[in-house]
Amino acid sequence: MKTVIANWKMNPLSLNEALNLVKKYKIYKNLDIWIAPPYLYLIPLITKFRKIKFGSQNIYFQDKGPYTGEISPKMIKKIGGKFVIINHSERRKIGENFKIANQKIISVINSNLTAIVCLGEDKIIKNIKILKSEWQKQIKILFKNINLNNKSIILAYEPTWAISTYKQGSVSPEIVSEFIKFIKNLGFNNKIVYGGSVFIDNIKIYLDLPLDGFLIGSQSLKPKNFNKICDLIDKSI
Ligand code: PGA
Repeated sequence: MKTVIANWKMNPLSLNEALNLVKKYKIYKNLDIWIAPPYLYLIPLITKFRKIKFGSQNIYFQDKGPYTGEISPKMIKKIGGKFVIINHSERRKIGENFKIANQKIISVINSNLTAIVCLGEDKIIKNIKILKSEWQKQIKILFKNINLNNKSIILAYEPTWAISTYKQGSVSPEIVSEFIKFIKNLGFNNKIVYGGSVFIDNIKIYLDLPLDGFLIGSQSLKPKNFNKICDLIDKSI
């Protein structure tokens, strides 16, 4: 079963738009559609759409207490959320780091939610040795005291530079393939998804890779495009 994760980021502006967006998503037999809306739409969406898995785009690592403005994994679990995205590069851009992400992964796993852990280089690195040492460095901090094969972990290879906002294109399938080999060599046996500028036009280049799915940002806000991308993934299974 492949998984397509829709990362809505800070969109849309109203609950009505959020409800309409989900209504337009197609449901697939062999494709899991997971949606990460802004926190405040989670309860109404979870209540209304039973066949789709919802989760959050971020989390705090404590269960409860004096942490103004934060939400805990336990809260997400209690309302029926299934997963949490951790270490997204847009979180890192506003001050988070890999050490904080490590604590978040631990607390998400302990709450019996799936942790979708983003990682990847900030800038384009052409030298494969340097690239691998960057991946290695990130993994070491992210998964300190965590078993890489904990079944609650999904890795999202999503280099910062490849996010559509920066208009620098997506990662070549050769590099994604290197990443998969690299991570499997470390003994990682869980799901790996790719994210970064996934569009209708380029999804095909990734469909032969041993990926378990995709993390999709901008195109998840355009239901026609999103469905088309999902159709192509579905056909490739
Ligand atoms: P993008 O975003 O698909 O717009 O590149 C992906 C993400 O940020 O998760």
